[in-house]
Amino acid sequence: MLTFAASCNSSTENKSGNGADGSAKFASEPEGATLIKRSDCTTCHKADTKLVGPSFKDIAAKYPNTEENIAKLTEKVMTGGSGVWGDVPMAAHPSLSKDDARKIVTYILTPAGGK
Ligand code: HEC
Repeated sequence: MLTFAASCNSSTENKSGNGADGSAKFASEPEGATLIKRSDCTTCHKADTKLVGPSFKDIAAKYPNTEENIAKLTEKVMTGGSGVWGDVPMAAHPSLSKDDARKIVTYILTPAGGK
């Protein structure tokens, strides 16, 4: 294993703008996780601690991973709102595409990090 990792690290080809190969580390991260980091979600949410908003763990515990819940929360992330966890509203995310919002929500509701 160690030998493999070392040989992996030493192959530092620099293909500009192409992370498709050689970046196994990123490829193994669910797209939803990457999108969360790129957005502002972590300003108000953490994985397992309540911040301004509920933790992603609490959200996953409240909503089973069903098509209905994913559709509902995708909508909520895009339009924002309050009243479910308290009076503090979540900001709307109009620049987030529905596709990306759905990937994020699917990721939050899938603790194992499925697609
Ligand atoms: C300005 C702070 C803030 C930001 C930024 C934010 N949230 Fe929230 N979020 C909240 C609050 C507050 C709530 C609780 C809202 C409520 O009680 O209805 C919440 C609730 C949620 C819920 C549960 C909604 C429900 O109806 O139960 C999800 C899912 C969620 N946020 C995902 C995200 C994602 C994904 C992002 C990034 C794209 C994000 N949030 C960014 C504050 C924020």
